[in-house]
Amino acid sequence: MKTLLSELRQRAVAELTAAQDAATLDSLRVKYLGKKGELTAVLKQMGKLSAEERPIMGQLANEIRAELEGTLETKKQEIAAKALELKLQSETLDVTMPGKKQELGRKHPMYNVLDQIKEIFIGMGFEIVDGPEIELADYNFTKLNIDEGHPSREWTDTFYFTEDSKYLLRTQTSPMQVRTMETHPLPIRMLAPGRVYRKDEVDATHSPMFHQIEGMVIDKGITMADLKATLNLVVQQIYGEGTVTRFRPHHFPFTEPSCEMDIQCHKCGGKGCPTCKGEGWIEILGAGMVHPKVLSGCGIDPDEYSGWAFGMGLERLAMGEYKINDLRLIFENDERFLKQF
Ligand code: PHE
Repeated sequence: MKTLLSELRQRAVAELTAAQDAATLDSLRVKYLGKKGELTAVLKQMGKLSAEERPIMGQLANEIRAELEGTLETKKQEIAAKALELKLQSETLDVTMPGKKQELGRKHPMYNVLDQIKEIFIGMGFEIVDGPEIELADYNFTKLNIDEGHPSREWTDTFYFTEDSKYLLRTQTSPMQVRTMETHPLPIRMLAPGRVYRKDEVDATHSPMFHQIEGMVIDKGITMADLKATLNLVVQQIYGEGTVTRFRPHHFPFTEPSCEMDIQCHKCGGKGCPTCKGEGWIEILGAGMVHPKVLSGCGIDPDEYSGWAFGMGLERLAMGEYKINDLRLIFENDERFLKQF
């Protein structure tokens, strides 16, 4: 038995010393010291020994166990240290390197302009309302007095969802006039900014998606004078005191009378330049007195109430304010552009 034990000891120490990784080490532990291991197997045979031999062999076996456990532990630490060293070598960290800077985002220039306009209207007691971009043709057209045959209802101009032309992407924010009249108690002062969609090719001044701001007032005794006074006041605040404006007759099916509002070109002072395309004037919005048919369609008596409404393009306004010469810049999200504001 003595030879058996010393042979086992030699073999085990040699194998343990040669081990290169934690997994091998562990399988060796099981092989020699485990419940079904070789040393345990030898110890199980102790019963066969004589009474004199038993304690001597027992002591020897315990010494071997202690030695193997010691070797195992030393080896384990060795392997762990080596692994750590390798890891540290592969993960060099240069603490003198500059850190990665996190850029803080900022508000989009167009939304700066929108917020400015909202502030002005909120200051005059207007409520900001929001509505669906997927709209019923009924609201986008019919309830706004736009007849079946009207060119703006053409499939070539409007994104429809269904063959029956019932659902579409709104082409204007004007359906919010109807939605507000149907749901809000009178009198009404509302501002409805939002996205609108038209089948336009993309170029420096066109995009299939753009933003409008709709505004509307309904009350007793409202006249065109209120429209002009309010919009003039707003323009002075946006474009600066003393900005010259003019109202030109126009046609919209849902307002009567209708007009367009121009500002005198701030670049050339009305002489004519590239900014105003030589006109001296820049058109900024469409407006008018809410059509009696639209009012009565919303259950409002046109003999008792009247109102005015306007619709304004937001991109064009932002382009004017920030001197942006290409609409595409507003949507491309190029940081080099956006960082300038
Ligand atoms: N909705 C019209 C357009 O898109 C603008 C408008 C709004 C005109 C409100 C009159 C009243 O051109």
